[in-house]
Amino acid sequence: MTELDFIPKNNYRLSIENGSFTWQSPSNIALVKYWGKKDNQIPANPSISFTLDACKTTTELKFKKRDLSTEPVLSAVEVLKVTSGFSFDIYLDGEKKDDFKPKIENFFKRIEKYVPFIKEYHFVIETKNTFPHSSGIASSASGMSALALCLMSVEKLLIESDVSSSAVETFQNKDYFKQKASFLARLGSGSACRSIQGDLIVWGKHKEIEGSSNLFGVKYPFHVHENFKNYHDTILLVDKGEKQVSSTVGHNLMHNHPFAEQRFAQAHNNLSKLIPVFKEGNLKSFIEIIESEALTLHAMMMASMPYFILMKPNTLEIINKIWTFRKETNHNVCFTLDAGANVHVLYPKREAEQVIKFIQNELVAHCQNGHYICDRIGFGARQLTMNS
Ligand code: PMV
Repeated sequence: MTELDFIPKNNYRLSIENGSFTWQSPSNIALVKYWGKKDNQIPANPSISFTLDACKTTTELKFKKRDLSTEPVLSAVEVLKVTSGFSFDIYLDGEKKDDFKPKIENFFKRIEKYVPFIKEYHFVIETKNTFPHSSGIASSASGMSALALCLMSVEKLLIESDVSSSAVETFQNKDYFKQKASFLARLGSGSACRSIQGDLIVWGKHKEIEGSSNLFGVKYPFHVHENFKNYHDTILLVDKGEKQVSSTVGHNLMHNHPFAEQRFAQAHNNLSKLIPVFKEGNLKSFIEIIESEALTLHAMMMASMPYFILMKPNTLEIINKIWTFRKETNHNVCFTLDAGANVHVLYPKREAEQVIKFIQNELVAHCQNGHYICDRIGFGARQLTMNS
């Protein structure tokens, strides 16, 4: 598939005046990390993630046809300010969030070619997260994927309500809706394309993974051992503050990075190594690859110019305690990190009782205000209401 496959072949008839769709979409945690990108949100290397379950965003998208003839005529200065011409309002937990608008505006600009109806409607986007906004957990993966799914529901409705449209066939391919939702989500935030489905998602072309694509996330196609079903992820909130360096800046620092090429090759290699690990249920090898990936991600940050450190002293305290506990008890507990100080503690379901005790007794003391979130592998986004 190419980008062109996601551009609608016919004009929409736009016979629908208004309506609303609601989707709930989860966050995800990368095992092999995406860090570095090319133009148009194309990843510099393939990645694989566990879809999460408890950390999710619910978004309701209300849409109403614009009557451009009655919209106020803008002055020349105003036209310059609203050059994009999109019309929407966004709310988080019922509160209007004008500071989120530039990000959504930018997202709309990137996806307009693929969902050209968005200029014809006014949207009200009402969103809420199950995790606190100021938890240091990025809501971009769950948020962008939920919004992309809502827009896909609108597109499907517009196309299916036009009986004369040959595009109706497009949606008869059952993968199309999810693929295009993932494709759109990627244009909002790269890792968001891995949140549409579960439980193990690959994004980025990898020679051994059939169907893998730089354009959207796909379900990991090979056998996965029972050991990896119901994996747990307890997220330790070490630092709930705003990140000092955004992931956009971090990705860009991989251009001209002295270790970029080796890093991208390592990610391909680690994904190859995971294939037999997932098949055979080899937890020791899994731990080795996953922890190395997390530390390499942060090593890339430390080795970029300008350099930066997102881990905090408590991140390292937790990592050391996990290593000691693992050595002493032989439990298959390990950590991964995203682009921040929080620690994701990963462990198989059957070891949950002992590991949760260890987390409560030893690790929670290193969390900001003792806060942590118990999550586990999930199975992707779901629609909450039908069009009304
Ligand atoms: O999707 P972004 O642009 O927020 O980048 C995500 C980067 C990491 O979380 C560090 C890694 C990943 O693959 O999710």
